[in-house]
Amino acid sequence: MAPHNDVEAFHEVLRSSRRILALCGAGLSASSGLPTFRGAGGFWRNYDATQLATVRAFKMDPGMVWLFYAYRRHLALKAEPNKGHKALAALARRNPDFLCLTQNVDNLSQRAQHPPSQLKCLHGSLFDIKCSNESCDWMQKGNFDDPFCAALAPASVDMPNGEPLPLLDPYHRVKHITEDELPKCPQCSSGLQRPGVVWFGEDLDAHMMMDISAWLRAQPVDLMFVIGTSAGVYPAAGYIDKARKLGARIVIINLEAEDEAEMFKVKPGDFAFGKDAAEILPVLLEPIIGKPNEEGEFEKP
Ligand code: OAD
Repeated sequence: MAPHNDVEAFHEVLRSSRRILALCGAGLSASSGLPTFRGAGGFWRNYDATQLATVRAFKMDPGMVWLFYAYRRHLALKAEPNKGHKALAALARRNPDFLCLTQNVDNLSQRAQHPPSQLKCLHGSLFDIKCSNESCDWMQKGNFDDPFCAALAPASVDMPNGEPLPLLDPYHRVKHITEDELPKCPQCSSGLQRPGVVWFGEDLDAHMMMDISAWLRAQPVDLMFVIGTSAGVYPAAGYIDKARKLGARIVIINLEAEDEAEMFKVKPGDFAFGKDAAEILPVLLEPIIGKPNEEGEFEKP
């Protein structure tokens, strides 16, 4: 059997694969300059980023949680989709049987022209806004205001000459943002507006989950990409085992994928590439999407 990181052998498998699934995580957007959740990029001021992504944190200090998300919105708006997002979008255009599940909320896959029907944003979007009152169904799609509101302006500052943003320094005191300074829901007038992302302990969108289940049930899955994710957050990570049970070979693309401690995840017939997703995806997908043109775009078929 070919080694787990043999590109030629992977190309053979790709050419014979029709139904393809992908699960993407923060590592896909890392080379666009967006921080990941765990590891080096996982702290914001002195908060663990995963602790801020909770209803509890929002109830305790909505201003602080909003600052965190306002900063992520600003970064995502300034970032550009990378070759990894573009390669996946090109695969989707060429193969209608490719479905991409992303945990990312940064809108970069959409900006790379990934066909919407072939992209499921498991954890919502930074640019959707909803009401924090659970009994209110108000939602606004595609709000790209930056800053989101006047009180959150410190999160949207661009420092000259790459100097660090004061907001990111845990020793720099930030003015406490009160609830009165944050926008209220225009429908119920009582709840605060909040980011339309899924927080820990919250359910994923039921319709989206049903669509994904229907796709999985329809026919066997030939191949599944697991890209730039620590695959520790459920139900997202559960799709890896589901696809494996439906016959899929797994290809893991992650900086750590070939580390000794990670190799137990690579079963016989699977592939693992310990590379930057933005660099390796165009190489791996080349038999289907071709090479990028001079502008770095994969032309439409
Ligand atoms: P993590 O931060 O947990 O994992 C990112 C993974 O990407 C790590 O395994 C890195 O090794 C890898 N990585 C970093 N740079 C890379 C690069 N250039 N190319 C390839 N891989 C790279 O992020 P996620 O797995 O996406 O959920 O986190 C999952 C969920 O947990 C997020 O959607 C978010 C978070 O808390 C919610 O907010 C609900």
